[in-house]
Amino acid sequence: MNMKMHSPRSRALGMHLVLMSVTGLLASQLLVASQPLSTPAPAPASTPESAVVEAATPWGGNYFPNTLLTDQDGQQLRFFDDMIKGKVVVINFIFTSCSDSCPLETARLRQVQKLLGDRVGKDIFFYSISIDPLSDTPEVLKAYAQRFQVGPGWKFLTGEFADVTELRKKLGLFIEGIDNGRNKDHNLSLIIGNQATGRWMKSSPFENPWILADQLANSLQNWKQPSVEESYANAPQIRPPSTGEELFRTRCASCHSLGPLDGQGIGLHSIGPDLIGVTRQRDPAWLNRWIREPDRMLAEKDPIAMELFERYNKIAMPNLRMDERSAQSIIDFLQEETDRQHPPAAPLASGNEEPEHHHSVAQPDIPKVQ
Ligand code: HEC
Repeated sequence: MNMKMHSPRSRALGMHLVLMSVTGLLASQLLVASQPLSTPAPAPASTPESAVVEAATPWGGNYFPNTLLTDQDGQQLRFFDDMIKGKVVVINFIFTSCSDSCPLETARLRQVQKLLGDRVGKDIFFYSISIDPLSDTPEVLKAYAQRFQVGPGWKFLTGEFADVTELRKKLGLFIEGIDNGRNKDHNLSLIIGNQATGRWMKSSPFENPWILADQLANSLQNWKQPSVEESYANAPQIRPPSTGEELFRTRCASCHSLGPLDGQGIGLHSIGPDLIGVTRQRDPAWLNRWIREPDRMLAEKDPIAMELFERYNKIAMPNLRMDERSAQSIIDFLQEETDRQHPPAAPLASGNEEPEHHHSVAQPDIPKVQ
């Protein structure tokens, strides 16, 4: 640890973020996501105007490194000066060969980007920084961004390994002992913040995309843009989610919709197949195993898995380390939701469903989710 090199205030931020990341592993991500950083120690009295600047931005250019990074188009950027100074930003660390958490983060942020529309790149900036710079060249990052069809205004960056590690430590997105182990099981977290006001918070890719978008568009911007007034009469009915629904919403809904009426529908073409009807179409044992270890089934060249993999842009469904019971609770939820949207008396498709045919394709009467 190189803590002794830090000033007391920088240590305060570093420690706080480390603490929050530990809490984040234990506590519900919904609670953690809305906790702002504690107020840092008051700035030392110096010249009047620097005191004002210090008070407004306790974590400025002397806290954050000005790391040189290269984006997916080969453009070079300085972390502090070009990327975060005076901006509202989302930052996460990924590597493109990651087969568990990163695709989920990318998929979630893609939904948040869609909700924010053209504000991304204007007053909200998205940065995904590779922790595997040897493999993740700008070209590789570009291909990754294209595979996930991310919109404009979101940069994927790479840099020197040591510099990126230093940056992760400064952002509190590095867990000593986990992150420097040989496996790349890196800290599953995003940091969002407003550099100008010094408000930074950790968030989770399992967070509801609407909440993330609201934090970026409104609370972090001090509500400078009026929100669209909607009548509470139009608010959806709240019902307590089951375990299966909770898991589906947090772990799966970043890539999967659930029928055209899906409440989380963001008007974005999903990364993976729509899952309405899947419990009627697939063998239960196949489904349970697929949810737990899709990577192994792909490696074994399971024919259904291979066919889906080709169809869905060769993005592999991640292994989210579900156990059998969790997988089953998700399956139960998918089944209930299918029965709710398509009561069993009215079958999904007229009789001859071919297993290799995709369920949403086999239902001409149901409009395709965009
Ligand atoms: C990062 C995106 C992503 C996440 C997160 C994700 N999936 Fe998938 N899923 C896919 C893709 C892509 C496919 C298509 C097969 C492939 O390419 O591996 C797929 C396929 C599936 C299928 C097969 C559909 C069929 O027609 O048989 C099921 C079932 C499924 N996913 C369930 C889940 C569940 C349950 C979760 C949450 C625990 C989940 N997925 C999380 C991307 C994702």
